[in-house]
Amino acid sequence: MTILITGARGHVARSLVHQLLAAGQEVRAASRNPAASALPAVLCDLADPDSAAPALAGVTKLFMYAEPRGVDGFVERAVAAGVEHIVLLSALLASADAEDAIARLHRDAESAVAGSGVAWTFVRPGGFATNTLPWAATVRAEGVVRDPFPDAHSAPVHEADIAAVAARALIEPGHKGAVYELTGPESVTRRRQAELIGEAIGRPVGFVVQDLAEHRAELSRWTSPEVADSVIRHSRDAVGRPAPTTDTIEKVTGEPARAYGRWVRDHAADFTG
Ligand SMILES: NC(=O)c1ccc[n+]([C@@H]2O[C@H](COP(=O)([O-])OP(=O)(O)OC[C@H]3O[C@@H](n4cnc5c(N)ncnc54)[C@H](OP(=O)(O)O)[C@@H]3O)[C@@H](O)[C@H]2O)c1
Repeated sequence: MTILITGARGHVARSLVHQLLAAGQEVRAASRNPAASALPAVLCDLADPDSAAPALAGVTKLFMYAEPRGVDGFVERAVAAGVEHIVLLSALLASADAEDAIARLHRDAESAVAGSGVAWTFVRPGGFATNTLPWAATVRAEGVVRDPFPDAHSAPVHEADIAAVAARALIEPGHKGAVYELTGPESVTRRRQAELIGEAIGRPVGFVVQDLAEHRAELSRWTSPEVADSVIRHSRDAVGRPAPTTDTIEKVTGEPARAYGRWVRDHAADFTG
């Protein structure tokens, strides 16, 4: 029984592979770029279903990222290859309004998986703690976080907790048809996150209110203009509004969700270089 983990270079996938191996599972990691993967991996691009046949051979369970391009063809091939259960990394925003770009892409992926008739579990995290990794460069160089929204709240979720929920869904019975909405355990502002980074690395970290156009340009380096607009809109909506939290991580894994301060300690090397 082989479990295929797509997106091997992703934070969640990497943590998931380690957790499944530690649990004695037979795992195959796959990446669009296996040569650049820190884990041994085979080729699999969700947006190019024709590339997936070798990766899918002998696989009964599958963890996949929400890549709407090619998803129908990919899921069809997975089911034909014998996959019986798909755990999809979706997003809390999948239930947001229909016009939102982030909501749409995750809903499209969920619909393709559910429409295939295969058993599924949807893991829907809120904002990731890893979203603050882009702050590391200015923390290292200038001792500051640069962001336009110091008072925006979020309940950042640790990638290891997302992976722990996905691991349970893949290896235990009882998770088919479940939708798991995951958040970190507490709402923090971005200004407080900067302070927590400072506490973790042992020197104070300031906060510089960044120009919005500069922020949009930075976001546009890794995503589409629609998704960048959506990220900015959600940040603005979160100003002064504590983020709701869920206890799903603890309910599914039996362990309390890891707080942002713990995440920074786990990633302190990124902020000190
Ligand atoms: N950031 C957030 O706040 C947030 C919130 C809710 C949900 N999410 C979901 O979580 C995802 C990010 O997870 P993460 O932090 O683990 O990601 P990450 O570290 O940024 O890595 C994303 C990984 O997705 C994989 N991927 C992307 N397109 C792919 C494709 N066409 N075929 C196969 N794999 C593909 C890639 O793996 P390879 O390069 O190895 O192929 C990539 O490394 C987002 O895309 C979103 O769907 C994010």
